[in-house]
Amino acid sequence: MSAAQKVVVITGASQGIGAELVKAFRERGDRVVATARSIRPSDDQDLLAVAGDLSDPATARRVIAEGVDRFGRIDTLVNNAGIFVARPFTSYTNADYAAVTGINLAGFFHITQLAVAQMEKQRSGHVVSITTSLVDHALSGVPSVLASLTKGGLNAATRSLAIEYARTGIRANAVSPGIIKSPMHAPETHAALGALHPMGHMGEMRDIVDAVLYLDSAPFVTGEILHVDGGQSAGH
Ligand SMILES: NC(=O)c1ccc[n+]([C@@H]2O[C@H](COP(=O)([O-])OP(=O)(O)OC[C@H]3O[C@@H](n4cnc5c(N)ncnc54)[C@H](OP(=O)(O)O)[C@@H]3O)[C@@H](O)[C@H]2O)c1
Repeated sequence: MSAAQKVVVITGASQGIGAELVKAFRERGDRVVATARSIRPSDDQDLLAVAGDLSDPATARRVIAEGVDRFGRIDTLVNNAGIFVARPFTSYTNADYAAVTGINLAGFFHITQLAVAQMEKQRSGHVVSITTSLVDHALSGVPSVLASLTKGGLNAATRSLAIEYARTGIRANAVSPGIIKSPMHAPETHAALGALHPMGHMGEMRDIVDAVLYLDSAPFVTGEILHVDGGQSAGH
């Protein structure tokens, strides 16, 4: 393994932005630990797939332990797994609350704690989380308090982690997307969703991948919430 070759853990890697991140990091020559409930095994020796529900702390333990066992270290954790449930506030069910906080918050907390513990041993590492610009600029047509509650928490935790670890060689950043053309949104909704952005169109998965790659190679950047949202967080 060359000195520049990193070991990157990517959550929510079975489809969408996560699957594109896996491709991009592998194209860069990095080794990847990919996890999601429905992730399939890979023939690629430098790609380890670990299947499981990340809202269960046992999955987080397996992902980090198997990653360290196979590749010896963890350089980057991309907290990408997440779900989005938009409903009027009083229509959210207890099951919605459990599902959204389960993956968006517990799914972040357990694996980040284990990854950072490994990074502390190495005295280097990077945690980057995918949040949402709805946190900064709520939309009247998209009621989604649970997204703001959970992803807003991730933005705040990102800054907090960045400061706690600033002198240890461990960085923490986030990418805050607008609405992105991924399997999360059916093609027939794209025109209406695009119109919600000042730029008048949705983003591409590549826009988010490029932002993650930038942050991962930016040694003086920590505590940054990088908005990749067609102007959504700036105003309307
Ligand atoms: N697309 C957008 O417009 C948009 C906008 C803002 C933020 N984001 C954020 O970007 C991230 C990726 O979104 P996407 O658009 O690529 O969504 P997606 O296509 O729905 O993919 C979500 C990924 O998360 C995984 N996942 C969901 N629940 C899980 C669980 N309990 N345990 C383990 N893995 C789980 C899914 O895999 P399995 O089903 O196989 O488990 C899948 O790989 C999410 O955090 C999302 O909130 C997306």
